[in-house]
Amino acid sequence: MTNPEELLQRQREVLPDWIALYYERPMELVRGEGFKVWDSEGNEYLDFFGGIVTTISGHAVPEIVEAVREQAGKIFHSSTLYMIESQVKLAEKLVSLSPISGDQKVFFVGSGSEANEAALLFATQYRNSSEIIALRGSYHGGSFGTMGITGQSSWRPTPRSAIDVSYAMTPHRSYSPLYERFEGDPEGFARACADDVRRLIETATTGRVAAFIAEPIQGVGGFIEIPPAYFGRVKEVLDEYDVLFISDEVQTAFGRTGANFWGIEASGVEPDMITMAKGLGNGLAIGAVMGRADVIDSISPKLHISTFGGNPISAAGALANIEYVLKNDLQHNADEVGSYLKERLQKMAEGNPLVGEVRGRGLMLAVEIFGPDGEPDPQGAVRFLQACRERGVLVGKGGIKANAIRISPPLTITREAADEAADAFEEALAEVGASARVG
Ligand SMILES: Cc1ncc(COP(=O)(O)O)c(C=O)c1O
Repeated sequence: MTNPEELLQRQREVLPDWIALYYERPMELVRGEGFKVWDSEGNEYLDFFGGIVTTISGHAVPEIVEAVREQAGKIFHSSTLYMIESQVKLAEKLVSLSPISGDQKVFFVGSGSEANEAALLFATQYRNSSEIIALRGSYHGGSFGTMGITGQSSWRPTPRSAIDVSYAMTPHRSYSPLYERFEGDPEGFARACADDVRRLIETATTGRVAAFIAEPIQGVGGFIEIPPAYFGRVKEVLDEYDVLFISDEVQTAFGRTGANFWGIEASGVEPDMITMAKGLGNGLAIGAVMGRADVIDSISPKLHISTFGGNPISAAGALANIEYVLKNDLQHNADEVGSYLKERLQKMAEGNPLVGEVRGRGLMLAVEIFGPDGEPDPQGAVRFLQACRERGVLVGKGGIKANAIRISPPLTITREAADEAADAFEEALAEVGASARVG
């Protein structure tokens, strides 16, 4: 096996410089089993990031591996010009689990970005409008269209866009100037932030907006929880102006948030479309838009294809994955173990000035790292990641200020694994604190 230094050198020769790699000494993961992974040097880790919030059922799950193996032995590929039974079955399963009522359709693609691209296509065609409202701090993908509705400049290397986007305020204590005025009054805060969306529609758009798109918990933004009450109030505003609601559930679907199967269900709001990827395939390349049949069927001319979308292997694997999530009630485990882990993180944070907010739901948890000066500390977050690695735990990073530690293991983790990781987090935090004092 190639050693990591040599592989890095070769990667730098032929892959783009801007591909983000974690750690000063980047690693290659070569094997996984359940919630554990091994690097090319044989080191074992608890996988508490799940390949960016993706590995929902865990690695090398026999039922999923077998479904992929069986399909691979039959046919890899046919394209959407031919029917694919596993794709139809997967769509039937997703619709049966959908929080949207009425007739629905599902369109399969290869990734989260593509799912959002497709949702933008359907919404803009249905409403005959190119205007979209997104939230500041959002991340909707790395393709040209989806970067155009991403509210984080660090993930938006070009200001150009095919979409006419207006950004609404992030309804969160750290990002909304309204928060202080409504402290202790979450309903009032939600209403005031939703009123901002109304003002945005009335002042910054033509009034004919195609869609409002939001993540129920902003993922790349650092697991920022959008208050469920906000979505309730915003939906009333959207209904007044006939604006469609797209819930970007690329990170929050399939029980990840614990209490709900879909993140948006916490608000009781029925979106018009849901976009998904990541956990859908547990690592297989698949994404989808599910939503109102009249919206998805509205494109004109009425011809569209996807060469790889929902291909036989991804569809068969995703179906086995969703069945595994349901059969083993992983949502319940995410709720139970996630609440337990969150309590441990909150205890770690108590009285520690290096920790800001501990937030998130289910197994989508974040811890903000602050410096001794009380400011967000992105370097401290980098040191925390490294210190966790040295203790055998992989976690992620994110946030507008790049100081949020993101914790999103497979939904199969046990309390013991949560304890082991939490012990590592406490030690890592102490190490960050010590180096901050020395520094
Ligand atoms: C909420 C959200 N939407 C869309 C995407 C884009 O998905 P992909 O990287 O599969 O294109 C991501 C990726 O992180 C995401 O978090």
